Amino acid sequence: MKRLGVLLSGRGSNFLAIREHIAAGRLAAEIAVVVSDNAAAPGLAAARALGVPAGHADPSGRTRREYETELVRILAGHAVDLVVLAGYMRLGGPTLLDRFAGRILNIHPALLPAFPGLHAQRQALEHGVRYSGCTVHFVDRGMDTGPIIAQAVVPVLDDDTEASLADRILREEHRLYADAIRLVIENEYVMDGRRVVWKIKKN
Ligand code: GRF
Repeated sequence: MKRLGVLLSGRGSNFLAIREHIAAGRLAAEIAVVVSDNAAAPGLAAARALGVPAGHADPSGRTRREYETELVRILAGHAVDLVVLAGYMRLGGPTLLDRFAGRILNIHPALLPAFPGLHAQRQALEHGVRYSGCTVHFVDRGMDTGPIIAQAVVPVLDDDTEASLADRILREEHRLYADAIRLVIENEYVMDGRRVVWKIKKN
């Protein structure tokens, strides 16, 4: 069973959705640990309340290297196979990325490469696109730039607000993230440039 390490900074609804997919038998994985850079993250409190191993790695007053060294120590200490960023509001540095090279996933609330960074739903609305959605991708050094694993499309409606669009996208995120994790766990793949090329299913 693959062991997931979830990193989050806030609400934690994607963490909870992944946990529900696992509990319902739709995703063969285990959440080994939840780690937050934010001691007050509701997602961290939710993990603790559910009895999921959870910890706070404090970035304040530390270099990124020092902070990520602690992060890696916690993740490795829980024998994590795959790192799942779920509303984790920091750019990964070499200490984290090198230790888990090719094994870090992120979800972004837009159809990348459109609208990376903060306020993706607001960017989509202001740009006037008719469709947006969400993307799960491997993490590289850039901001929301890594190879794409899965995407889901959501229409933008005439009367959408940033909040209503974010809600519609979030419902898709909660399905897509588990699907993408399952793809990565259950299938072999090779990289062709930026493209993830899926191979035959593992037994
Ligand atoms: C989601 O919209 C996700 O796409 C983005 O941050 C938000 C996190 O939400 N990266 P939650 O904390 O999982 O509820």
